[in-house]
Amino acid sequence: MIRRQFLARTLSAAVASLLARGVLAQHAGHSMHGMEGMDDMPDMPGMHPAKPVAAQPESAAAALAPADALPSGAPLPALRVLRNESREPGLFRATLVAEPAQHPLLASRPTTFWQYNGAGADSTQGPVTGPLIDVREGDTVEIRFINRLPQPSTIHWHGMPVPPDQDGNPGNVVAPGATRVYRFTLPAGSAGTYWYHPHPHMMSAEQVFRGLAGPVIVRAADDPLAGFPERHLFFSDLKLAADGSIPANDMMDWMNGREGQFVLVNGARRPRINVKEDERWRLWNACSARYLRFSLGAGQRFVQVGTDGGLLETPREGLTELLLAPGERAEVIVRAGSVPSQATLTADVYDRRKMAMPEGSLPPDPAHVLADVAFQPQPIGEAGAALRAIPATLRTIVPLPAPVARKSVVFSEAMDMTAMHHSGASVHGMPAGMRFMINGTSFDPKRITLTSRRDAVEEWAVENRTDMDHPFHLHGTQFQVVGRERGGVVTPEPLLAWRDTVNVQPGETVRIATVQKMAGERMFHCHILEHEDLGMMGTLRVI
Ligand code: C2O
Ligand code: CU
Ligand code: CU
Repeated sequence: MIRRQFLARTLSAAVASLLARGVLAQHAGHSMHGMEGMDDMPDMPGMHPAKPVAAQPESAAAALAPADALPSGAPLPALRVLRNESREPGLFRATLVAEPAQHPLLASRPTTFWQYNGAGADSTQGPVTGPLIDVREGDTVEIRFINRLPQPSTIHWHGMPVPPDQDGNPGNVVAPGATRVYRFTLPAGSAGTYWYHPHPHMMSAEQVFRGLAGPVIVRAADDPLAGFPERHLFFSDLKLAADGSIPANDMMDWMNGREGQFVLVNGARRPRINVKEDERWRLWNACSARYLRFSLGAGQRFVQVGTDGGLLETPREGLTELLLAPGERAEVIVRAGSVPSQATLTADVYDRRKMAMPEGSLPPDPAHVLADVAFQPQPIGEAGAALRAIPATLRTIVPLPAPVARKSVVFSEAMDMTAMHHSGASVHGMPAGMRFMINGTSFDPKRITLTSRRDAVEEWAVENRTDMDHPFHLHGTQFQVVGRERGGVVTPEPLLAWRDTVNVQPGETVRIATVQKMAGERMFHCHILEHEDLGMMGTLRVI
């Protein structure tokens, strides 16, 4: 507590100074941030609106589009699918172009996104969400990336076991106008729900919030749930100005991670989903910073069958909620039931302890309706509806053997008053002096943070010494969470699962078992993209 108050006081002084210098163009609006989405959810008990904490220009607060500016209630858009240009079996060859694309969201003026498109695709058709890459274990994937952005970029294959030099590391950028080919082969056992997004240092947050992110599905030949119809829900966040533009990050966005007034599902606000039979849903949290605590209402139970890295060993039955931190994915089975009913897919109240100005924490994020769901079960046996059982064992997950080495990763934060007061203290629009660190330092591309041996099982203790949640993400492999420790209480992980992203609460240490199979450099970082850009990232050298 003392640490946070000290931090918050220094911050507010520095912010006042920055505002006075006019360094930050659009700082305000965030004090009401906690109330956004309330139109969707009028009577949430226990919700306290954030009190405005600093004198702010009213015009700036009014500059965002109202929370009902985007239409809702349209059918859930289908994802675009990236076309395979190869006819060779086992080879998936395609082109991804990152380029500006206009979508007429508001009547006044079209919104310019940055968007991934397939070769020759009409970028105005279909959702902003990058096209789905749908491939199989054993496939060789060859993606020609054309960068038509005004910035350098990369494509990072989040969660996938691709060679380090093909993984879109910040050190391997593709210049504006340039092209490169990413090539990798998907090993057996890699079936899962992944995604791709840019990873240039200090520009990842902006490129993602302007629209660059897309889903990947790797399928197994022996998928025990292949019989279920699939539904894909790719969640992204949009902060939209009243004039239709996508504004730059303000100080609060940098500090807490950006959350816009809209959560989009496959690019649409609050779409309608009709469920006629039991379905397998794949969920992606591709938001920069928003935590999604999924619920279909207290009466609507669902079954979790998968995490980031594919199926669980045993299904988790009877869930009424599931938290996905930014970057995380899950697979769930949603039952149609036996009688027609309605539900709302909601991101429930979650307190990630966002920092407030001038001190303390903001109230928890309010609930946010994501989609309306209508269950219209078809009679079994008629019209093609089938009763499908979920196998008691989905696959075998062998716990990683005892570690041969240990690593420690510590998240911390600090504010440097001198740097923040320095005029022109801003790189890529990022505030100087606001430091998010790993093991006491901010990211330096020239520094190796940790070194591991190839094929050596390690236990990493990831400790959060800040006062807010941070999702830890490690490239190049899937890991197993072993247990969590907080205030001296150790909780072994009840779930045997493959993940690449795990939330770490303030004061918590999460232990993971991990092994890297390829030599080279791998990133690990907080997946709140603003924190990543501000340096809460390290490099692992695998030898
Ligand atoms: Cu999804 Cu290093 O990122
Ligand atoms: Cu990643
Ligand atoms: Cu963070």
